[in-house]
Amino acid sequence: MASSAVAARHLRAGFSLAARASSGASRLGRVPKRLSSTVSTASLETPLDVFTPRHIGPRDDETIQMLKTLGYNSLEDFVHDTTPAGIRVSDDNLTDSVIKPLTEAELDERIREIAGKNKVLRSFIGMGYWNAVVPKVILRNITENPAWYTSYTPYQPEIAQGRLESLLNFQTMVTDLTGLDVANASLLDEATAAGEAMIMCLAALPANNKKRTFLVDSGVFPQTVDVLYTRALGFGVKVVVADAQEAINDPAISDDLIGVLVQYPSQDGSIIDYSDLTNKVHGLHAQMICATDLLALTLIKAPGEWGADIALGSSARFGVPAGYGGPHAAFFAVKDKLKRKMPGRLVGVSKDTMGHPAFRLALQTREQHIKREKATSNICTSQVLLANMAAMYAVYHGPKGLKAIAERVQQLTQALAMAVSAKGYKVTNSTYFDTLTVEVSSAADVMAKALEKGINLRKVDETHVGITLDESARLHDITALASAFDGASVPQSIVGGESIPSSFLRTSPYLTHPTFNAYHSETALLRYIYYLQAKDLSLVHAMIPLGSCTMKLNPTSTMAPLTWPELGSLHPFVPEDQAKGYHEMIKELEDDLCAITGFKACSLQPNSGASGEYAGLMVIREYLLSIGQGHRTVCLIPVSAHGTNPASAIMAGMKVVSVKVLANGNLDLVDLREKADKYKDSLAAFMITYPSTYGVFEDTVTEACKIIHEAGAQVYLDGANLNAQVGITNPATCGGDVCHLNLHKTFAIPHGGGGPGVGPICVAEHLAPFLPGHSQVKTGGSKAMSAVSAAPYGSASILSISWAYIKMLGGSGLKTATSMALLNANYIAKRLEPHYYVKFKNGAGRVAHEVLIELAEFDKKAGLKVSDFAKRLQDYGFHPPTCSWPLSTCMLIEPTESEDLQEIDKFCDAMIQIRQEAEDIITGKQPKENNLLKNAPHPMSVISLSEEEWNKPYSRATAAYPLPYLKIRKFWPSVTRIDDAYGDLNLMCTCPSVEEMEAKF
Ligand SMILES: Cc1ncc(COP(=O)(O)O)c(C=O)c1O
Repeated sequence: MASSAVAARHLRAGFSLAARASSGASRLGRVPKRLSSTVSTASLETPLDVFTPRHIGPRDDETIQMLKTLGYNSLEDFVHDTTPAGIRVSDDNLTDSVIKPLTEAELDERIREIAGKNKVLRSFIGMGYWNAVVPKVILRNITENPAWYTSYTPYQPEIAQGRLESLLNFQTMVTDLTGLDVANASLLDEATAAGEAMIMCLAALPANNKKRTFLVDSGVFPQTVDVLYTRALGFGVKVVVADAQEAINDPAISDDLIGVLVQYPSQDGSIIDYSDLTNKVHGLHAQMICATDLLALTLIKAPGEWGADIALGSSARFGVPAGYGGPHAAFFAVKDKLKRKMPGRLVGVSKDTMGHPAFRLALQTREQHIKREKATSNICTSQVLLANMAAMYAVYHGPKGLKAIAERVQQLTQALAMAVSAKGYKVTNSTYFDTLTVEVSSAADVMAKALEKGINLRKVDETHVGITLDESARLHDITALASAFDGASVPQSIVGGESIPSSFLRTSPYLTHPTFNAYHSETALLRYIYYLQAKDLSLVHAMIPLGSCTMKLNPTSTMAPLTWPELGSLHPFVPEDQAKGYHEMIKELEDDLCAITGFKACSLQPNSGASGEYAGLMVIREYLLSIGQGHRTVCLIPVSAHGTNPASAIMAGMKVVSVKVLANGNLDLVDLREKADKYKDSLAAFMITYPSTYGVFEDTVTEACKIIHEAGAQVYLDGANLNAQVGITNPATCGGDVCHLNLHKTFAIPHGGGGPGVGPICVAEHLAPFLPGHSQVKTGGSKAMSAVSAAPYGSASILSISWAYIKMLGGSGLKTATSMALLNANYIAKRLEPHYYVKFKNGAGRVAHEVLIELAEFDKKAGLKVSDFAKRLQDYGFHPPTCSWPLSTCMLIEPTESEDLQEIDKFCDAMIQIRQEAEDIITGKQPKENNLLKNAPHPMSVISLSEEEWNKPYSRATAAYPLPYLKIRKFWPSVTRIDDAYGDLNLMCTCPSVEEMEAKF
């Protein structure tokens, strides 16, 4: 091969291990060659925008240096020592011929080609999806801004006050508009939120309750009903869909009732008075749940005002694109009596050590509902970025602006109703906000005429069509719509007419807090966004080494297409021929994920990791039923598992039995064998995370899977740690039957401050027929179970991020990324080892892609807790690693492949310096209570205290600038340490009024 061709191959392959091995380079020389060293011999066709070296942090010389530190001459030797031989896949398993790498420019061309295959028409289909108008100031400065989209769930509130304030705005907006007492900071989508509400109805009843009927009004969206059917299975709930106002009088229903769900306004558009129904429901000691629409609630009575106990829905029409189904933030609000049973994260106001108000996640000791065997929900990642967009939309428009938007929508709907009625068509709903159901002689004909005008309508049945208007609608849209009804003429203004009866009109105020009334100019909002942003540490500042969270680069070229109309504006239920581009991308992503996991089929529907766990276990359940093994319901789960694992098993109707782990962190095979034997007649599944949550590749994983299979059960592999596997091993080779992947970890979807996420499941051939279907769009296998998410492909628009990430790295780049993630983690372990106890390693002294360090000794010697180390790291400009999980006295550190040596060394230097600070406390040089760690973090408000107030036995400089790099680049926490107990005792989950501030702070 000519040298230029060799060079080109090297470049295209990124750091291909396979390519290096065949190049005959010296052992050390087999460390990847980069662009800089090969470009001079390259042909003019050689691309300069190869993605792999842009994605991977360490440069060639740094890689060599790290390998040397660990005592290796080649990456291959290092990987061999790190991963068990028995599970490694062959070198040709994931190569560039399996997934061909694209350069950034090639990716751009390819995604434009794919996006071009989607047809962007006007969709007035409704059903919980709208054409949102995203204010450009929000689009550019939040949605497209890495400072907002790369941050993590705000578990470290002192460096997350910005997004916590914004989430508090979201909660305030939701409680105000729904008229309820407490709202959470988002759930995954409207349908799963309804599922959560249904199970809350059960949880609200006494433990010995036997009632199981959940009544769903026939006006509820079909995709919600579909998810309710699925969710009901695991809890033995009976879902009855009927006209709720009539069915409530049927004793077969009322005697067994746990709750009722209505849609308000109903799916046909009607606004119905549910107060009588609510009284009856309450008389039966059941809960009244209302799925609703935030924009409608600016005009119509709030559900809390007519007695609803829970209100939920999608906040997407507040400035979040339809995105072919998502991601969107569901909202969820409850009466005060139910607040401690509410799933999801809740932001609350507390105070810091200086007595200043500060925000943090409230009631976290219950994190949350995820209480292993006692779980009622498994939600973890939610939809924070989208909730923040919706909250900012409300801040921008304010109560008057929102009302004006709602009135315009309502008036346009009324104009359309008048136009079609004048032509003799019957609008079957006499009350409405934005939706009309029109009786026609042929729905197909009307829809065809609308389509000629570039408009999609909803087919209700053969003789009815549905039309839902939204903020994007203009008079010319109404004229075009009317033309599908024999050219009905549209009035230019509305006089009189009552589509919302006066008894329904909202009279109560909402969004009265100053935050919703202060930022209505673009300048003001822009400054508010940046004021909040400046308080938050994200990947734009520093490494976020959160174990199990894989905070890697979210490449800009994968993010950019997200907001293109060809991807952003599609309604999830458009005819298939309008979404050809999406289908092509979805198929390619499914194929690539199957190649990576070694499995046969994939479902992209679950919209978080926990949702994937649930879907995977439900697929196992359906499979077992299909082979007459439905009595198998026991699920074995190691004690080291993430809390979502047992929670998902409970939701899938399984009984959780724990399996022990050994002192070295490995799974206790003796215990596993005993339990598998004990439960061999009832064993359904075994859930395992690999590498384990302790950060080790157990070489017994295949043996463990064999034990389970011999007992007639299925193996579920939690793929949260897939970043340690890609290209080196895979869940199928390890012995699994099904796995979920966190695309928001391994495959570069940003964490968004706590969502969105995507948790696809990949399954072996025998499970493929049961993959989840959908009521509106065909998805899943030949014997598909009902849906697990509202939209057919879950959070479809962000699938493009993972698709693009995989395409740009290609087979060899993916494998190299894994090797480098392992190398970075092992380098950290090596550097920290003289100072901290690295708890688990394999026989060769290697960790996997993360490092668990034990801090218990510091508590014993000087009362220093994990949180003291974590808060001090904030002073050094780092986001702390995962704290007190999976073991309460540990920190779990995961650097990922994207961090370079400089950043990793900086982090290690910080950790080592903190160790020295701890030593000073242990040896008595510093007092046990008033010291650098206990007082951390040190925000400006502390550093700027007067001489008299500065009562600390160390200098300001030591507090704020303990290492030289901080003098050049310093991130300041914005508050001192926050008092969690105070916040939980004085729960305040909406924006505090001036009076409340005065009373409490
Ligand atoms: C091991 C493990 N499993 C499952 C999950 C749940 O994933 P998600 O937060 O996307 O629901 C996590 C989340 O951090 C995890 O670390």
